[in-house]
Amino acid sequence: MCGIFGCLVKDKDVAPLILAGLKRLEYRGYDSCGEATIHEGKLFVKKGVGEIDKVHAELGLDDLPGEIGIGHTRWATHGAPTRENAHPHTDCEGKIAVVHNGIIENFLELRKELEAKGHVFKSKTDTEVVPHLIEEFMKEGLGFQEAVIEAVRKLRGSFALAIIYAGFEGMACVKMESPLVLGVGRDGIYVASDIPAFLPYTNVVIQLKDGDVAFIRPDGFRIYNFIKGREVKRKPRTIDWSADMAEREGYPHFMLKEIHEQPRCLKNTLRLDRRYLTMMADLISSAEEAFMVACGTSYHACLASSYAMSRLAKKAVHPVIASEFVENYGSFVGPRTVLLAVSQSGETADTLEAVRHARERGATILGVTNVLGSKLTRMARVYVCQQSGPEIGVAATKTYTAQLSVLTQLAVIMAERRGKIGHVEAEDLWDWIHKLPDLAESVIEVTEKDIIRLAEEHVGVEKFAFVGSGINLATALEGRLKLLEIAYAPSIATSSLDGVTAGCLGKGSTAIFVCPSSSPDRKRLLDEACMARDHGLNVIALAEEGDEEVKEASDEQLVLPVPPELPEVLSPLPFILPLQMFAYYVSVKRGLNPDKPRNLAKSVTVK
Ligand code: F6R
Repeated sequence: MCGIFGCLVKDKDVAPLILAGLKRLEYRGYDSCGEATIHEGKLFVKKGVGEIDKVHAELGLDDLPGEIGIGHTRWATHGAPTRENAHPHTDCEGKIAVVHNGIIENFLELRKELEAKGHVFKSKTDTEVVPHLIEEFMKEGLGFQEAVIEAVRKLRGSFALAIIYAGFEGMACVKMESPLVLGVGRDGIYVASDIPAFLPYTNVVIQLKDGDVAFIRPDGFRIYNFIKGREVKRKPRTIDWSADMAEREGYPHFMLKEIHEQPRCLKNTLRLDRRYLTMMADLISSAEEAFMVACGTSYHACLASSYAMSRLAKKAVHPVIASEFVENYGSFVGPRTVLLAVSQSGETADTLEAVRHARERGATILGVTNVLGSKLTRMARVYVCQQSGPEIGVAATKTYTAQLSVLTQLAVIMAERRGKIGHVEAEDLWDWIHKLPDLAESVIEVTEKDIIRLAEEHVGVEKFAFVGSGINLATALEGRLKLLEIAYAPSIATSSLDGVTAGCLGKGSTAIFVCPSSSPDRKRLLDEACMARDHGLNVIALAEEGDEEVKEASDEQLVLPVPPELPEVLSPLPFILPLQMFAYYVSVKRGLNPDKPRNLAKSVTVK
C-alpha cells in the first residue's frame, strides 16, 4: 500500500499542494517519497528516502515549477527503500514519470522484453516497467494517450497509476484493483489513493472503476475503460465526511477499516513471487530441525501453519514463542537448523533476538514480514513480504490473515515438493486458496450484523472462553487475544473445555466454540458445548451454513457462509473474521477506543 496524489490546477504551482496531499496520505507508507511536475514542456523530479518531512527538509519538495504534477509516498513492495526505488519512476529519456500503488505481477517478463529492446532500468521496482512500456509504444508511433492504454493492457496485477509526460498538458490516471479517486474542484482536478488527501480542496468525488483510464486536461477530463474498450461516464458524488472520518474511508476506527480491507490484502498475498516461497519450502524441507518463531498474533499464525505443514507436508516445523527460543532451543541450534521468523513489523525485539542467536550459530534464517527494509528483511537469507500495507490499528487483523495465507501457501508448496500430496489434492487446495479473498468478503458482509447484536448482548459479560481444537486452537487463541487487547475482557482460550474450567467460569460467562464441520474433534467439541450449557454458560458456536448439529449444542450460532467442503487446514482464515469483529464491537459498545488500547504498543522493539 502506497499513497498517490496528483493534481492539475489552473494558474498555480502545484508542488506545495502535492506535498500537503502526500502528508495526508503518509499513513499509507512512509519509507520514501517523491514528486514530479511538468513546466514548459519539461519534466522535473525530486525524490528521496525517509519520511516526507525529512525528504522535504533535504530537497524542498514544494519548489518544483508547474501546474501539473504527481507525488508518491511509498510502502516498499518490490525493492528496498532506496532513492532509486522511490517514486516517481521515469523512462530512458526522462520525459515520462509514473507513480504507482499495487503489484505488477508480470514485471519481470516485461522488464526482460524491454531490456532486450535497449531500455535501461534504474530501480528494482515493478513500477519502472510502466514508463518504459509507454516510451516503447510512443517510439512505435503512438501518441501519449494511446501509448498509456496499450501499456496498461499489458500489465497483470493491481495498479493505481498517475502518469505525466513532458509533451502532454495533462495527466493520465489508471485504476486496476488498487484504489484511486478523482476530486473535481472549481479550479482544478485532483487524483489520490484516498479521499482525505484532496478533501481541503473539494468534496466532489468520482470513484474510478477497474479498467478506468482518466485523461485529465486543463479543460476537463474523459474516462476510457481499457477492459470494456470504450469511453465511460462516471457519476460524481458529493461527500460530507469530516477530514478525520475520511482518513479512515468513513469507518469510525482504523481497526474496522482494516478488518474490511482483508479481502484486498488476501488478494495481494496471491501475487507473491512463488520463487521465494519455493526457496523457503526447500530450505525448510532439507533442514534437520525447523522452527517458526514469533510473538503475539504472529505466533498464532505460526501455530496454525505448523499444523498445516505437518498435516500436508509431513514436516515438523516447531512454533516457538520468540522469547522462549534462546533459552530452550538455543543450545542445539546449528548450521542444519532453519528458523522461520514471522513478524508483521519485522522489528520485534524478542523475534530478532531469536534470529540473531540462530544466525550466530550458523542457522538459515527465513522471514515473513509486512515491512520491506525492516531488520528482519536484512537478517533473513530469504524473506517474503506479505503486502498488507501499513496497519494502523494496534490490534493486528489484516496482517494476521495475510500471514495465514502466506504460510499456508508455503505449506502447500512444501507438500508438493516433498511429494506428500497428489496433484489433484494440490490443485484442490490452490483452488480454495484462491477463493479465500471472496470467501472472507462474504463472511464479513454476512456476519457483521449478527455480531453487532451479539456484541450488544455481551457488553456486560465478564468472562469468556474461546474453544478451538487442532489447527483452530490458533483461532481460539487469536480470538481471545483480540478481546483481551481491546475490550479488556478476562478470557481463556483452550482446545478443550473441561467441567472444572466451565464450573470456574460459571453462570453468566460466555463460551465461544469454533466448530468447522471438517474438525476431527467435532463430536468432542459439541459434547463440551452441551456440558458448558449445563454449567450455565451461554454458548455461541461458529459454524458453516447448514450445520444442524451445532444448533442443538449451542444457544446462539454465528453462521459463516463457508461451504463445509473447505479443507480444515484453511478454516482458521474465515473463522477468525467473526472473532475480530466481535472483539471490535464489544470494545466499541463498552465505550472504549479499539484503535488505542491501553498498555499495548504495536510492536515491542525493546526487550
Ligand atoms: C496483537 C499484536 C501484537 C503483535 C506482536 C508481534 O494484536 O498486534 O501481539 O502481534 O507484538 O508483532 P510483530 O508481528 O510485528 O512481530
